[in-house]
Amino acid sequence: MDDLRVNSQSSLSDVDDLSRLLDRPRLNIERKRSFDERSFSEMGILDSGVNSPGGRSGWETPGSSTRNSFEPHPMVAEAWDALRRSLVHFRGQPVGTIAAYDHASEEVLNYDQVFVRDFVPSALAFLMNGEPEIVKNFLLMTIQIQGREKRIDRFKLGEGAMPASFKVIHDPIKKTDTVIADFGESAIGRVAPVDSGFWWIILLRAYTKSTGDLSLAETPECQKGMRLILSLCLSEGFDTFPTLLCADGCSMVDRRMGVYGYPIEIQALFFMALRSAMSMLKHDTEGKEFMERISKRLHALSFHMRSYFWLDFQQLNDIYRYKTEEYSHTAVNKFNVIPDSIPEWVFDFMPLRGGYFIGNVSPARMDFRWFALGNCVAILASLATPEQSAAIMDLIEERWEELVGEMPVKICHPAIESHEWRIVTGCDPKNTRWSYHNGGSWPVLLWLLTAACIKTGRPQIARRAIDLAESRLLKDGWPEYYDGKSGRFIGKQARKFQTWSIAGYLVAKMMLEDPSHLGMISLEEDKQTKPVIKRSHSWT
Ligand code: GLC
Repeated sequence: MDDLRVNSQSSLSDVDDLSRLLDRPRLNIERKRSFDERSFSEMGILDSGVNSPGGRSGWETPGSSTRNSFEPHPMVAEAWDALRRSLVHFRGQPVGTIAAYDHASEEVLNYDQVFVRDFVPSALAFLMNGEPEIVKNFLLMTIQIQGREKRIDRFKLGEGAMPASFKVIHDPIKKTDTVIADFGESAIGRVAPVDSGFWWIILLRAYTKSTGDLSLAETPECQKGMRLILSLCLSEGFDTFPTLLCADGCSMVDRRMGVYGYPIEIQALFFMALRSAMSMLKHDTEGKEFMERISKRLHALSFHMRSYFWLDFQQLNDIYRYKTEEYSHTAVNKFNVIPDSIPEWVFDFMPLRGGYFIGNVSPARMDFRWFALGNCVAILASLATPEQSAAIMDLIEERWEELVGEMPVKICHPAIESHEWRIVTGCDPKNTRWSYHNGGSWPVLLWLLTAACIKTGRPQIARRAIDLAESRLLKDGWPEYYDGKSGRFIGKQARKFQTWSIAGYLVAKMMLEDPSHLGMISLEEDKQTKPVIKRSHSWT
């Protein structure tokens, strides 16, 4: 198996380029405000500080501690120190953060690598703190890695595939730095990370939005990198749906968990990456061709997701009463879902107020599980209509015990157990019920929840979740995940000093303090993808 190596010799010129770019005078950082400021004022929680970029808001919300929020929480300084300790350098330049800086753990596995998805909250923290250089270096480094040939055994992967992670190996004798990347050929289960490319595009937009520096996105390297990622996911095949068909374990949930098919996490990231790319592609011949394809796909994808993945009380009742074996265009039960396949738990779980995008939809299969990442990204990307976004937040409030519990945020709900666990996970001992990906609680998701709360004008929910995290995260040593129905126990095999738990907390804190940061990771509703057809029941 060929390891991908970018040795410092061959990449010298690129690194020089990189240094030259960084030598440029710092651009004025002007952040766009895309959150609805009005809702903040109407709620009486917008203070004058919010109007000056970088200013402190200092607003208190119901249920929050009485501590003066002008004084940073003592955990913030600790978190910054820990985040800086996780920095990874390539030829003296910071290019990313290691997944976990856990000296106590015997097994390092691949936690000593820079994961693309794990770096996203780190990158956002650095951007919010006015330190964009590392993000730029990371984006350039990973796009260089994308350009290499990648193989699994005798099979060559698509050109656009982005790595799950990479590692910098320093040779102190030869004084060289070597980069080894993993596209799935070393990962447990040998799955390629479909989410990496999407996160890369989303991060490029966040960098551009936050710095106002368009020059990086406009470089031929970044334009080509984007087009290659897009080619992979916009290619024509035998699809009958606009959603993206995936193997199990191709995203944050990177083990077999029955998320194969059309998982919500990937569909939401796909949607967000398409919209982000749309705003950054150049209007040249190649760029325009992609923009046309993107626009068509977005139109179909938003319709499909908003109609068929959406579940609320009314929709559940409709499915419960579905007729089966319908043929022709007039079919109501298009995917031939058999009502008997609806799991018992969902009838109790579904509140009258609220709704969410379910885990998966394919022929005769609806995975009714709740996945936090996909739903939060759907809000941020405006894949959810404003009404659906509000309903998702309603659900989180109504089902706080289940979806947040004692440690924010549950990755999915509910856990699968017994026979189902055996069949679905292949008896995975790491994913036993209410552990890890199977209903575990992941502090990293706090930043996504916070962003979704701010976007929907409900910062008090984020405040409540942050308070919960602050009561334990530092004391527990920033675990990767928590176990148990309500997330009370430090996870069975959880790493300590997990970087994205640290960065996720910082991003949540900074966003709540200065909601204008939201603009770099949120997209306004696109009027063109507004639903045109209404279904019989009202879901908007
Ligand atoms: C685990 C997680 C994955 C994460 C990686 C590094 O494999 O499932 O989402 O990227 O650890 O933290």
